[in-house]
Amino acid sequence: MNNLHNFNIRIYLLGFMGSGKSSIGKRLAHKLNFSYIDLDQYIENKYFKSISQIFETEGEANFRNYEKACLHEVSLIENAIISCGGGTPCFFNNIDLMNETGNTIYLKLSPLMIVNRLKNSKKLNTRPLIKNKSKDELVEYVTNTLIYREKFYLKAKNIVEAKHKTITEIIALIYSKNNSI
Ligand code: S3P
Repeated sequence: MNNLHNFNIRIYLLGFMGSGKSSIGKRLAHKLNFSYIDLDQYIENKYFKSISQIFETEGEANFRNYEKACLHEVSLIENAIISCGGGTPCFFNNIDLMNETGNTIYLKLSPLMIVNRLKNSKKLNTRPLIKNKSKDELVEYVTNTLIYREKFYLKAKNIVEAKHKTITEIIALIYSKNNSI
């Protein structure tokens, strides 16, 4: 890959839990020789607590404050792929900050595909919002939450239909979208 000079210096990956932000982000960062930042990991390192512990001991509202503070910090890092949490764009003015400081890519998947991926994910029970949900509860949660969240996700500068695409195909699409703005 060349033409790196055309790339935005910061790319935020947005999307629901299980939409592939981390795996795509890591591969994309490697390909572009950018740093890879997982916002959840950044929060865990800064506050010395896992995301689950923060939710359990301090509640979601505090988690959202930490998330916002960390997003501001990473928005200053150059040449970085930033994989956000599923809720990051949907609180405060986070989506506006991301759009102002980089390219934003929404990895779009249907609720059914998200549910199937989450069900098969090793991380299922490390995600406090969906921990211990039955399949039916998960379908209901993902469907309803996505209806609300998509309003924010769709503010991303670029939307990538991730359905039936391999990681390699998605990365190629992001590359072309990033290069063309
Ligand atoms: C959340 C998604 C999680 C994590 C937290 C809340 C959400 O990140 O930030 O559990 O609100 O959707 P992933 O999307 O990486 O699982």
